[in-house]
Amino acid sequence: MVNIEKYEIWSQKYDVDEIESDIIFNEIDFKKKRIVEVGAGTGRFTLKSLSLVKYILAIEPSNGACRILKEKVKQSQYKDKIQIIQSNFETLDISEFKGTFDIVFFSWSLYHISDIHLAITKAIDLINEGGIIVISQPYGGDYENCVNSIYHSDSISIYEKASKEAELLLKTRFCNIRDFYIRSCFYFNDINEAVDLSVFFVEDDESRNVTNEEKYTLSKNFAAKNIDKDHVKLSDVVKVIVAENRKF
Ligand SMILES: C[S@@+](CC[C@H](N)C(=O)[O-])C[C@H]1O[C@@H](n2cnc3c(N)ncnc32)[C@H](O)[C@@H]1O
Repeated sequence: MVNIEKYEIWSQKYDVDEIESDIIFNEIDFKKKRIVEVGAGTGRFTLKSLSLVKYILAIEPSNGACRILKEKVKQSQYKDKIQIIQSNFETLDISEFKGTFDIVFFSWSLYHISDIHLAITKAIDLINEGGIIVISQPYGGDYENCVNSIYHSDSISIYEKASKEAELLLKTRFCNIRDFYIRSCFYFNDINEAVDLSVFFVEDDESRNVTNEEKYTLSKNFAAKNIDKDHVKLSDVVKVIVAENRKF
């Protein structure tokens, strides 16, 4: 069970300096476009895109995230531009939307989806000619290293597996595929907040038991490199893949 309150705090932390969205909006033209956002979460990008786009169809399976997203949209002057559907992307019937969108955007969501092949096939079906599929997800950096030290796993390989599978499929369909990288940062008020917000992902996974010793290891890693006088700053690298629907 995802702890939505913490997720909400976290979603504000991880884009607080807005580098990631600024670069994405600079590299990819969202202006007046019809967008499908897959896994919109609590609306980190959704709300920032609303002023630019023509229309967003936001798909998000989590009840708590949808609740927060709807609340934010209600406050927005652009609320008429968005429809929110609470569903997994794989199971959503998209037949009425085929070929009607300019951009399908997976922001930090593709690697959550168990059937990548199905997700990308549906994304391809959704875009019109000249439309694009954008996949943005973490690639590495201090933050990932710290989290991996507590997960005892390699999150990067999960992201890479998802990108590779998606890229392979996209290459069989489109000839225009590019990628770029964004160096972003997370800022936390202090070590405790950084550890607390990071390990909640682990705590949500009931198959894992996070011990105090593990939390201590993580906070030591954070402390070693990343503290300055006001806050804890962790770098992160985000990879963005852009595939354009131009036939060979
Ligand atoms: C790390 S969050 C990213 C949220 C947001 N896009 C952002 O960049 O801040 C991943 C999101 O993907 C959603 N998600 C997980 N499985 C999904 C699925 N099968 N279909 C669509 N979204 C999914 C989660 O509920 C979560 O909100």
